[in-house]
This record gives sequence, C-alpha cells and structure tokens, in this order.
Amino acid sequence: MCGIIGYTGNRDCVQIIQSGLGRLAYRGYDSAGIAVCSNGDIDLRRSHGKLENLIARLTREPLRGHTGIGHTRWATHGRPSESNAHPHRYGKFAIVHNGIIENFLELRQELIARGHEFSSETDTEIVAHLISEYYTPDTGFAGAVRAALRRVRGSYAIVAICADFPDEIVAARLQSPLLIALGDGENFAASDIAAVLAHSRRIIFLEDGDIAHIKADTVEIQDITGQPVQRPVKTVQWDISAAEKQGYPHYMLKEIFEQPQKITDTFRGRILEDEGQINLDEKTANLEFEKCSRIQIVACGTSYHAGLLGKYIIEKLARIPVDVDVASEYRYRNPIITPQDGFIAISQSGETADTYACLKIARERGSKILSICNVMDSTIPRASDATFYTRADPEIGVASTKAFTTQLASLMLLAIHFARRRQTITAGDARQLLNALRSVPHHMETILETSDSVRSVAQKLLRASSFLYLGRNVHYPIALEGALKLKEISYIHAEAYPSGEMKHGPIALIDEKLPVVVIAPKNATYEKTLSNLQEVKARGGRIISIVSEGDDMLPRVSEHAFVIPDCEEIVQPFLSVLYLQLLAYHIADLLGNDVDQPRNLAKSVTVE
Ligand code: F6R
Repeated sequence: MCGIIGYTGNRDCVQIIQSGLGRLAYRGYDSAGIAVCSNGDIDLRRSHGKLENLIARLTREPLRGHTGIGHTRWATHGRPSESNAHPHRYGKFAIVHNGIIENFLELRQELIARGHEFSSETDTEIVAHLISEYYTPDTGFAGAVRAALRRVRGSYAIVAICADFPDEIVAARLQSPLLIALGDGENFAASDIAAVLAHSRRIIFLEDGDIAHIKADTVEIQDITGQPVQRPVKTVQWDISAAEKQGYPHYMLKEIFEQPQKITDTFRGRILEDEGQINLDEKTANLEFEKCSRIQIVACGTSYHAGLLGKYIIEKLARIPVDVDVASEYRYRNPIITPQDGFIAISQSGETADTYACLKIARERGSKILSICNVMDSTIPRASDATFYTRADPEIGVASTKAFTTQLASLMLLAIHFARRRQTITAGDARQLLNALRSVPHHMETILETSDSVRSVAQKLLRASSFLYLGRNVHYPIALEGALKLKEISYIHAEAYPSGEMKHGPIALIDEKLPVVVIAPKNATYEKTLSNLQEVKARGGRIISIVSEGDDMLPRVSEHAFVIPDCEEIVQPFLSVLYLQLLAYHIADLLGNDVDQPRNLAKSVTVE
C-alpha cells in the first residue's frame, strides 16, 4: 500500500521524511520519492525500487528544506517506474496521493484539451495539474486544493506543498486514511502512525472530506465547502509494532478487517450501475473473452479457490464453459487449449512459478491471456495480454484473505461483463447484480462486528484434531478456502467436500469429536444440504453452520450458527468466507501460533 509523510517545521525535513518512509516500507512499495520547498521552488528526487535507491540518489544529489513530502508507492495506475513515482510536480505544486481517482481519464482528456502535458501514467498527476489550474491569488494554496478536489471522484489521501508557501502543507482525505501528528514548532501529516511515532503521539485523525492547512504552529481543518471543522486530538499509546498493524495484533486480522474497503476499491470506477455495465480497461475489454468458446482458469491455493467460484458465476451468468485447474497439475498434462479459448491466470503475487508455466503453455498454443493479479507489473501480468488488478494492496499475512475476496469481486465483475456482452442477462439483471455487489462491503462490516463472538466459538473448537467443511455450489469453493485457512495457520487437519459427496465416503469420519462446518445460506440447494446435515446429526457430529438470517431449521441442529443477512446468492460467498477467515484466525491465535508467518509457508511460491 502507498505510504505518505509530510513535514513542516524548523528542522531539516529530508532526514525526517526519509526515516518516516523507512517506517512505511513494511507496507510494501515499488518506488519512493521526496519533494521539498526550496528557494522559492520545489525540488524533488524519486527512485524506482527500494528506498536504498532513493537514499543513494539523495547522497549524490542532496535536498534541503524545512517543508516537504515523501511517498512510498505501490503501483495501481501506471507501472512501477521513476516517472510514475510520487511526488508529482506541476507548476508550483507537488503532491503525494494514496487512493484511486475514478474520473481520471475524463479529467486527463479535459486537461489535455487545455494544453496540459503529462509526464506520468498516474491518476495522481492529474490532481497536481488541477490544483495549478485553480490556483489564483484569491484562492491561495488551500483554496486551490479544495477547488481541485471538488472535481475529483474516487478516494484519496493527498498531501501537497506549494513553492509560494514554503512553510505550509495541505492535507486532504476521502476514504483513504490520513492523520496529522502535532509536534512542538513542527507538524506532520501521514497515512500511517508508524511514520510519525518517533516524533509525536498527539494525533488528529482526519475524516472524509477534511482539508487541513498545516503550518509549524497551527492546524486549520475545513470541509470541502470551506467551513471550519473541529477534530479531537488523541494521544496514542501504540509501540511501533502495533502502529504498523494499526493496532491489530496481527497483519492477518488487519487484512481481514480491511476487506470491505479493498472490495470497494476493486469496484471503484468499474461499475456503471445505472447502465448495468462494467467499465473495463480497454485492453481487457478488447480481448473479447465473451467470444471464446471456452475459458480455462489456472491458479494455485487460495487463488485456485477463487477460480473455482469464478467457474460457477461465469457459467451461470455468461453461459461460457469454464474449466479450472490447479497450475501444478495443468502444466504437466499436455492440456488442450486452442486459439479460440480464453486463458485466465489468477495470482495474488503474480510470481507463482506453476501458474506462470501454465500461462506460457497457453501462449504457445495461441490462446488469449488475461490475468487477475494484485501486484502491478509482476511476472504474470507482464506475460499477459491484459490484467485485471484486484487493488487489494500488499498482503503481508502469509494466509491470503483480502487477496481472495478481491479476486472474487474481480471475477464477478468479469462474469457480469461477459454476460452483458453475450446478452445472457438483461441490463436490469445486471443492475440488480451490481446493486447486490455494492452491498457487500456494508454486510461485511456488520459481520466483522461479531469477531469477538466468533472467538468464543473458536475457544470451544480448538481442541478438535480434525474438521470437515461442507458446501454446495458457490459455497463449495468457500468450504475449500475455509479448510485451507484453518490448516495453514492452526495446523489442524481440515478437509472440504461438496455436501452431496459426504455420503460417498467422508460420512465414515463423523463422530461426536468431529466439527462439521457447513455453509448453507438460503439458495437453490439449501434443502439438499439440510438433509445431508440430518445424516451428520444422526451420527452425533458437531455442526457449525453458516445460515441465512431467518433460518429456523439449521440453527436447531447446529452447535453454533453464524448468521449472514438474507441477500442475493452472488453476495453470500463474501460473507461466509469472512466467518471462516475469522474462525481460522481466532483458533490459531488462541493456540498461540504465529498467525502471520505460519510454519513451512512462504508468501510467494516462485519455485516449483
Ligand atoms: C493461501 C495462500 C496460497 C496462495 C498460493 C497462490 O492462503 O496464500 O495458497 O494462494 O500460493 O499464490 P498466488 O495467488 O500469489 O499465485
């Protein structure tokens, strides 16, 4: 995730910003940069790759100043490179930005028509240009930022400096975290407490729509219309490790809780709900996967589970046959794939060796290649014809959570797009589905509030030596994912079956010691699952269920029932997997395991 720090005060800001960026490095980044107000102008240094590159550059070409901004970038618009690195400077302004400007293409066209030239592929640079456009003696610095931000749709945490005001910074927030840290004769703006904790514990957390005008001794906050607003100053007690996890005990829990925001980011700018359309980037749309006679999905682990769910949704909505394979199997079985087929590689890291090897096979055999990936410009996207980026931001916990749900969100958007192009669903159907998808973050928030009660259930289950997970249809991949999460971090054996397969073997395992986790919200297969569960109950099995609100049958046979709201089927997997992530997390944590770095596992599997 991108990281921001800004400083104004009496000290040399470069050292402060540089060490703040070091504190932000844990979030993952691909480039970094610093800009300072210096002698009536703005001076900046940026580097691709690690912070060491930026530091080496600063050693060769030093910067000096008392007001400045710095950034670690994780690419979302435009590949990782020095020209795309922040800060972006235009005219008298330089800015750093976290978030996504939704209407950036529209604004870019407008600015180009007025003679602007751009030096990067980023959405951020647009904002620097806009601020410049609105800057007059009347608006002043903060007024120009406010006027520019009125034109922007999307999410942002922005910190700007202006050559004409070398003792001031302006910071603005909308749906992306930003705070101000108060010092003595100096003040800071940052995306993250970790960046400023060495200097101050007195923090103002900005709210959506706030624009803060920051000088060494004063902070004035206004809303987007210019009305003053008051925000409390809080004293934080976190140490640096807690600050990096934003107060959560583990990255995994932080990432579980980030999912509503990350799914919102995945949808951002891609849903045209009124028209019942998906706004895909040109390269992805031009691949015309909807014309393929078959789609082949290949992935590993959690990404494979996302692919399996993708099959259900694409086949159901777009009526295109979809095959899904584990990459390590696919690559060695001389697969059948033709130029008429579409090939989708799903990979969080974009570096998984087996998935990449399959992509090369598909390339040799002439099929079109689309990847769904979280890391811009990693190996798999570079080898693909187009990439749909999931925008989950870096995932630090080894067990994948937000990467999975953003992959699901991506696959659902693609399925709806293919379906609309093939006219297998109407615009009205699409509107209804998109409306339902938009409700996912809200429903997830509600479930996250029950995390403590999931922990109480975890407490009762943690002595079990084995678990069985069951689900039908779209809930079968979720059962697989739930079992994988539990195995990875709790080291308890777990396996998943389609509910209907239970009587073909796994039923022999059932006794009073085996927790059976069954995912059975109300849908077309609910009744069938209910009868499978009577078979479990008759053999004394412990049933832990995920049910729809209002279900009064399944909770009666369950030791515990997790409830999800009554919602469209397309929404259910996001909610049921959330309970399973929380269950696995709490069991592992109660067992005292290293949740973020489970034994024997690596985040990126770049070898066979
Ligand atoms: C499980 C997990 C792994 C990965 C798998 C594929 O929590 O993280 O199963 O999903 O190694 O990795 P990517 O998606 O990077 O190709």
